[in-house]
Amino acid sequence: MHWSQQADPAAIGLERAFEKSRISLTLADMTLPDAPLIGVNDGFCEMTGYEPEHALDRNCRFLQPSGGAGPVRARMRQFLTDETVEEEKFVVPNVTRSGGEFLNLVYMTKLKRGGKVTYVLGSQFNISGKSANAVDMFDQALKQDIVNIGSLAGEHGMIVLGTYQSLASSHSLIAKTRVGQAESRQ
Ligand SMILES: Cc1cc2nc3c(=O)[nH]c(=O)nc-3n(C[C@H](O)[C@H](O)[C@H](O)COP(=O)(O)O)c2cc1C
Repeated sequence: MHWSQQADPAAIGLERAFEKSRISLTLADMTLPDAPLIGVNDGFCEMTGYEPEHALDRNCRFLQPSGGAGPVRARMRQFLTDETVEEEKFVVPNVTRSGGEFLNLVYMTKLKRGGKVTYVLGSQFNISGKSANAVDMFDQALKQDIVNIGSLAGEHGMIVLGTYQSLASSHSLIAKTRVGQAESRQ
C-alpha cells in the first residue's frame, strides 16, 4: 500500500491486510475536504496506469472521462451521503492514464471510527472483456480482503460496515449494465 502524507496512523494500521491483497484497493478519508485517496495499492496503480504520486490526495473521480461518467456518478455521491447504506457496487466508465477506456466495477464500503464514518474502502475491477471466471475470482478475493481488513480494523478501533455478503453477485450487475448499454444505443 502506498500512503499519502495525510494518512493517519489508524489508516496505516490496516497496512498488513492491504498488503495481502492482489486486487485493486483504495482508501479515502471522508474527514478531509473532497474525500481524497489517502491509500492506494499496487493493484490500483497497475489497473489504472497511475503512479501513487499521481493518485494520492485526489478524489477518485479523476478516473472518469472528461465527457462525464453519466448517471452513475450521482448514484455514487448519493451512496456516500446516505447514512442508511453501508456498502454498494457500481459500474462506472473510467479511463486509464494512457487514455484507455474501460468499465470499472467499483465497490465501496464505509468504515466507522468513534461512531462516525471516517474512511471509505474502495475496490476496483476492470470488467471490460473479462470472463465469468475472472469475475468470480474478483468476488472471492474481495470477500476475503474485507474479512482481513475487518479484523485488523477492529484492533485499531474501527468497524468495517460492509461484508460483501448481501450484495447481488457481480455477474448480475454486469449483465444489467450490458443490457442498459445496448438499450441506450437503440
Ligand atoms: C474509496 C473510493 C474509491 C472510489 N473509486 C472510484 C473509481 O475507481 N472510479 C470512479 O469513477 N469513481 C470512484 N469513486 C467515486 C468518486 O470518487 C466520487 O465519489 C463520485 O464521482 C461521486 O462524487 P462526485 O459527484 O463529487 O464526483 C470512489 C470513491 C471512493 C470514496
